[in-house]
Amino acid sequence: MILVTGGAGYIGSHAVLELLNSGYEVVVIDNLSNGALESIERVERITNKKVIFEHGDIRDSAFLKYIFSKYAILSVMHFAGLKAVSESVSSPLQYYDVNVTGTLELIKAMSTAGINKIVFSSSATVYGEAATVPYVESMPRGQSANPYGASKGMVEQIFTDLARADERWSIVLLRYFNPIGAHESGDIGEDPKGVPNNLMPYISQVAVGIREKLTIFGNDYPTRDGTCERDYLHVSDLAEGHVLSLSMLKTPGLYTFNLGTGKPISVLEMVLAFQRVAKVELKYEFGKRRDGDLPAFWADASKAKELLGWEAKRDLAAMIKDTWNWQSKNPNGYNS
Ligand code: NAD
Ligand code: UD1
Repeated sequence: MILVTGGAGYIGSHAVLELLNSGYEVVVIDNLSNGALESIERVERITNKKVIFEHGDIRDSAFLKYIFSKYAILSVMHFAGLKAVSESVSSPLQYYDVNVTGTLELIKAMSTAGINKIVFSSSATVYGEAATVPYVESMPRGQSANPYGASKGMVEQIFTDLARADERWSIVLLRYFNPIGAHESGDIGEDPKGVPNNLMPYISQVAVGIREKLTIFGNDYPTRDGTCERDYLHVSDLAEGHVLSLSMLKTPGLYTFNLGTGKPISVLEMVLAFQRVAKVELKYEFGKRRDGDLPAFWADASKAKELLGWEAKRDLAAMIKDTWNWQSKNPNGYNS
């Protein structure tokens, strides 16, 4: 049985779906601060399989103790956390509390229960501002511009030290690039609360008429067309990468993987591709640069291919088609 923390969220729900389809039994814990129980119910409908859901917080040690004593858990996928960069700048302590203290509580509860296999949701942001592209796992972690990024780096360090100190642990750090898209059914997807911070949910809300127009943050970067370039990958590819990464847990040690396509796409290219694939017109304007944005970064994803047999299979058109399918079927997300 696999414990999935944050399994009612965007990436967690897609991972739960792929785990069920691969024959795993799943227990989800989530405090629903940014997730939806409805996503779990829909995953059950899509897969025709059951998910055990327990409402609770990863910082609550008594709750974790109860979970590990009640279920025969073999490994953990740890998605639970806070992820809004600008909010992390205004509420740093909250971010360190959930992302760092929450992870420590989880590790302690796992230790007590004798469970030492975990896959962690890290981020390309840990390479820091000065790294050269493409990002390779062998590069040292860099300095983060914000508490969100710093919290991911701290947790990676904690896991690195733990793996060094206790050779029973098997730990996989997955560094995601920019996950977008939705399951092909269009029944689960990304459902941001309030104004989206990230590009793809903003574009799809403009497309569906919830927002008037997209502001492209800067068109004077040293890139192909002056707008920033990122490595967008389909969330279902990312979820499949999680399932494959479980194979690494058989051998103790610490393993780090980039999960991306290796192909940078600019903001302008994304807007034009969205219009073409979804056959909608998107209003947009060029605005000022956003603080903390890097001009361009993308993954060297060859290590995941070599050791996990993982490679992103879905192209940009599929990412856009599936985003649009989810957004148009559920214009107001899970509350539609
Ligand atoms: P999300 O907010 O949709 O999912 C996170 C889930 O964790 C939510 O369901 C939320 O309710 C839950 N949660 C938050 N705090 C909790 C707590 N204290 N106890 C229990 N549950 C809690 O985010 P997501 O996009 O699915 O991201 C999942 C993970 O991947 C996060 O750790 C995030 O930092 C990481 N990540 C995301 C991206 C991205 O672009 N979405 C990129 C890199 C890394
Ligand atoms: C952001 C976070 C990063 C996090 C990642 C995935 C910042 C500075 N970085 O990265 O830490 O790991 O999300 O969750 O927030 N854009 C617009 N208009 C918009 C929204 C975005 O032009 O309304 C542009 C951005 O300037 C950027 C690109 O689109 O160039 C992608 O933005 P976003 O989706 O926020 O991802 P990242 O910037 O890669």
